[in-house]
Formats: sequence, structure tokens, C-alpha cells
Amino acid sequence: MNDPRPQFGIRLAYVARQLPRLAWYAGHEIVLRRLAADARRRSGKSAPAQSSVPMPSQRRIYADMLALLRQDVANVEAGIYPLPDDHDGPLRTRLHRSQLFFADLPEIHRRRQRGGVRDVLSEETRGRRPDYYLQNFHFQSGGWMTDDSADRYDTQVEVLFKGTANAMRRQALPQLFEVFAGRDQRSLRLIDLGCGTGRFLTCVKQAWPRLTSLGLDLSEAYIQHARRQLRRWSRLHLVVANAEAIPASDHSVDAVTSIFMVHELPPPVRQGVIRECARVLKPGGRLILLDSLQSGDEPAYDGLLERFPQNYHEPYYRSYLKEDFPAIARHFGLVHRRNVTTFVSKIMVFDKPAT
Ligand SMILES: C[S@@+](CC[C@H](N)C(=O)[O-])C[C@H]1O[C@@H](n2cnc3c(N)ncnc32)[C@H](O)[C@@H]1O
Repeated sequence: MNDPRPQFGIRLAYVARQLPRLAWYAGHEIVLRRLAADARRRSGKSAPAQSSVPMPSQRRIYADMLALLRQDVANVEAGIYPLPDDHDGPLRTRLHRSQLFFADLPEIHRRRQRGGVRDVLSEETRGRRPDYYLQNFHFQSGGWMTDDSADRYDTQVEVLFKGTANAMRRQALPQLFEVFAGRDQRSLRLIDLGCGTGRFLTCVKQAWPRLTSLGLDLSEAYIQHARRQLRRWSRLHLVVANAEAIPASDHSVDAVTSIFMVHELPPPVRQGVIRECARVLKPGGRLILLDSLQSGDEPAYDGLLERFPQNYHEPYYRSYLKEDFPAIARHFGLVHRRNVTTFVSKIMVFDKPAT
């Protein structure tokens, strides 16, 4: 019989690391809800109308969060990745990010009220990025364009997902493990599209420290943030670039990943990005898209998905909910392997045939 003690040690260490983190972000969420209720009371507005589409119960949400965390620890026990280190920074950094997060809430509220989604467009930014990109995604100040936005982003996302954003990102790693296991990681290349502040690349490097990895993003500020976040790792490159024109030659990459990006792209851009992925992947290479659930994936969540773009400026989310990714991928020669859903996210796995 296997000795259960090491397993117990892993679980204990996991809980010791994750519990304070979950409490930290869940605490932010509670404060956020209170502030929203106060703002509604002051303005005499009632709570948002109930959707006619099903909403998940709190019980279902917590059960799915628990299933995600159990899967996370099971992946560690299976040796797919080490005990995760979320690198949220020391208390001073976390407090600074929280302060930025809360300080932006009144601006977000005002922008939501007046439909201010183009505040990021200025003489300085106009023409420097694709037009769709120059919007205040999430209604946040600076859109994707400023240092404060980059410093605020991880807190914002973790609060949205009740502290499980990194755990959801890590669920893409078993899909990489499937194609990387038993191979010399130094000979492999991975590209992460729309890498943002570098959170997923942190997870990747913890699992494969010597894997040559490239993170690209259209935001100069987010790439600068990612450079600071990831400076401990070698064989890692971060560039400001467009996922529609990946700076890599044809058939040169073993895996392409993209986390929480495709829902932000207009449909023609989504197609252009997947075409690029198919171009740069080696035969036998793998594409992994991790993003929100789509309509019908988990019917209990459909109402939540429908409501999301009302609170967060997400202009292309509704089209994302119905997008047929396997059909787009097929068009560019990729084979859809599987979807894996976990809590509110979905992992779509595609392979380029080995020929
Ligand atoms: C919601 S964030 C996701 C960031 C990160 N992957 C994560 O796990 O949180 C979307 C990111 O996609 C980037 N982005 C959007 N369109 C892009 C494009 N065409 N090329 C490269 N990056 C893009 C944005 O700058 C932003 O950092």
C-alpha cells in the first residue's frame, strides 16, 4: 500500500498557501458588493433585474470552486506541476495593488453609467494600436495602456474569480504535460499570446523552468509588468507584438497558449490569431485556448455569462459565447482534441496533425 503521508503533506502545504489567498480576494469581493449596494442605495436604484436565463446557486459556485481546487492539488500529487507559488508579492505590494483596485471603482462606476468606453483614445494612443483595442475594457481607467492598469489587473481578475484565477490558469498545464512529458524541455518552444502581466507564464516556468518561452502582448505597460514579475526565470522572452502577426517562423513552435484573451477579440481578429497559431506550430504541435465558459457548456451558468458584459465592458463577449472555435481551427488545419471545463472557464485543445 502507498504511504499516504507525502500526499497529506502536499495537501496541507496547498491549503496553507491557498486559503489565505482565497480569503484575501474573497474579502475584496465582499467589500466590493457592499460598496455597490451603498452606491445603489444612494442613487435610489434597485438591484439589477434578474435574468430569465438560469443563474448558478451560491452552493453550485462553491462546489465548482472546490472541485477546481481539488483538481489543482491532484495535479500536484500526480507530478504534473510543483506546489504552486502564486507570487502575489509581499504585503506592501498587495496593499498597493488593492489600493489601486479600490481607487478606480468610482471611475469605473461613472464610466459604466455614461457608457464611457473610449476614454483611452487620445492623440497619443490613436493609430498606435488596432482600433478595437483602444477601449476601456472592464471600464477600467487606462484600458490596457497604463502602468496603473497593469498593477491593478491581477487583483481585479482574482477578485472577479474569488481568488481562483491562477488555479484556473494552471488547468491548462496538464494539456501541455500530455505533449511535453518525456521530452527534453530545453528543445521545446512555447508562445503565450496576450500574456498580460505574465501570470500564466509564471505557472509554465514553475513546471518547466528550462522551457524556451515567449510571451507577447500588445500592451507595453503589461509587458513591462510581466518583465518584473518574471525576472527570476531564464529562457524567457517578452515582447510587445500583435497576436495577429506572431514574431516566429512557420512550423517553429511546439505549443501556443492563450489565456483569457480570445473573448476580447472581434470575430475576424479571432480568426486571424488562430490562423497565425496554425502557421507557427510545428506538425504535432498543440494550441491551448483557455477562456470563459461559452453558452450551453454548463447551462446553470448561462445567466451569469449573459450578465457579465453588462458590468464589465466586454464588447466582443456576446459573440465569443457562441463562437465555433473547432470550426475555425479546422478551417486552418488544426484538429480539435477536447474541451475541459473547470469552474467558470473552459480549455479548448487543438493539435496540428503530425503528417
Ligand atoms: C484579459 S487580458 C488576459 C491576460 C493574461 N493572459 C491573463 O491570463 O490574465 C487580455 C490581454 O490580451 C492582450 N491583447 C488583446 N488583443 C491582443 C492582440 N491582438 N495581440 C496581443 N495581445 C492582445 C491585452 O493587452 C491583454 O493583456
